[in-house]
Amino acid sequence: GRLVNIAIDGPAGAGKSTVAKLAAEKLGYVYIDTGAMYRAVTLQALMDKIDMSDETNLTRIAESVDLALRADESGNTRVFLNGVDVSRQIRTPEVSRNVSLVSQVPGVRRRMMQLQKEMGARSGVVMEGRDIGTQVLPDAEMKFFLTASVEERARRRYAELIHRGFTVTYDEVYKDIAQRDNIDSHRAVAPLKPARDAEIIDCTGMTVEQVVDAIAARVSGRS
Ligand code: C5P
Repeated sequence: GRLVNIAIDGPAGAGKSTVAKLAAEKLGYVYIDTGAMYRAVTLQALMDKIDMSDETNLTRIAESVDLALRADESGNTRVFLNGVDVSRQIRTPEVSRNVSLVSQVPGVRRRMMQLQKEMGARSGVVMEGRDIGTQVLPDAEMKFFLTASVEERARRRYAELIHRGFTVTYDEVYKDIAQRDNIDSHRAVAPLKPARDAEIIDCTGMTVEQVVDAIAARVSGRS
């Protein structure tokens, strides 16, 4: 059928990335992880020792970095920051702790949104983030908002971090998730909230396959 755009938003740890990636594979669409872009800007700010409240310099960094997302042969997104693969560095607890401070800066969001709108311009993307349905792709044909309880999201994120080889405790992950939810939902610019026309899926107790199937069924049902 005709290519459409699919927006998937929701809080940290709801399983958005896994679901969006698998849904894109199933549909033959391009998967775009917008959180990775905010994480890359945050990594650059940390490397440059920029204060996380210095909006002028954070904006300057967002405007000057060269960001590229590329799928590797197994369909995983690799993130390149000024030509260097930083896919692993952007997942560290230090970046996670600081990314919500960077992403609330209006100048940072302006630049990221511009790049993301360009990526979605030709349709056929599954774009995942916090404000895709509300701000980045308001005309997306399909919008989903994935949520789950904080406990379940912390459990998933904890398992994922341990699997990736990071040393963290469940309590640290829980605190990070609760704190990011709070900042992301209450910031002045593009706060995390479902678009009016989004379908809300509570993933608590659902398997990844069930969520992917629900999304794929909706999409094929309309095309
Ligand atoms: O999706 P992920 O957890 O990697 O996102 C990291 C952070 O990037 C979020 O906590 C949020 O502060 C920010 N973000 C955002 N808007 C998006 C995607 C991510 O503000 N579209």
